[in-house]
Amino acid sequence: MGRRTCAASLWITAILTLLAVNVYVQGIEGATMTVKNQCSYTVWAAGSPGGGKQLGQGETWSFDVPAGTTGGRIWGRTGCSFDAGSGTGSCTTGDCGGLLNCQGYGSVPATLFEYGLNKYQNLDFYDISLVDGFNIPLSVTPSDSSCKVIGCTTDINAVCPAELKVTDGCKSACAEFNTPQYCCTGDYLNNCSPTNYSQFFKGQCPQAYSYAKDDATSTFTCPGGANYNVVFCG
Ligand SMILES: *[C@@H]1O[C@H](CO)[C@@H](O)[C@H](O)[C@H]1NC(C)=O
Repeated sequence: MGRRTCAASLWITAILTLLAVNVYVQGIEGATMTVKNQCSYTVWAAGSPGGGKQLGQGETWSFDVPAGTTGGRIWGRTGCSFDAGSGTGSCTTGDCGGLLNCQGYGSVPATLFEYGLNKYQNLDFYDISLVDGFNIPLSVTPSDSSCKVIGCTTDINAVCPAELKVTDGCKSACAEFNTPQYCCTGDYLNNCSPTNYSQFFKGQCPQAYSYAKDDATSTFTCPGGANYNVVFCG
């Protein structure tokens, strides 16, 4: 091998090694999300990323999410009607710009499963959030049995304070009143305490985010590479 070819092949080896180490450190595995509807009513499941799918009682929808996805969400929509041809229409709760196949987040109120894959030291972070309010009970079971199964399985709609109640849902105080105290914005950005409304949601679902700064009791982690089962009414 000539000197130049040798130097070139050393460079190529070094670059390939760096790429391999990088892929290893960041975690190469994405996740499969499996969404099941155990409610007695139809739910239009939604994922950002993922799109959307109508699920009758007992039906399941699976999709893959790339490694490193952050800001991921899965939620359910109620009372939808979509044009069969165009896939456009609207939903009573959780609507995402009138699309069957969501291209972004949806409207309040909606119970959210939120996740970030391989976010820090190859850990997945996940939670259930009521920061936007509640519409459908849900539970989340990671495939890795060392990770916590979390749920918000009580029907908060049945006990929702009158001022937060909407058809098929219960808005959060932030979504309804949009004040700094309820939304942890402005003067409350770095100093936001529970309110009587967030305490109401926390009482119903102790594992879920009841307001934006409710991190201590509401964030869960799982080794990267896990898959997640999301069940509505389960
Ligand atoms: C929360 O406090 C507000 C203002 O003091 C009051 O109007 C409201 O009824 C309370 N709501 C709940 C759910 O306790």
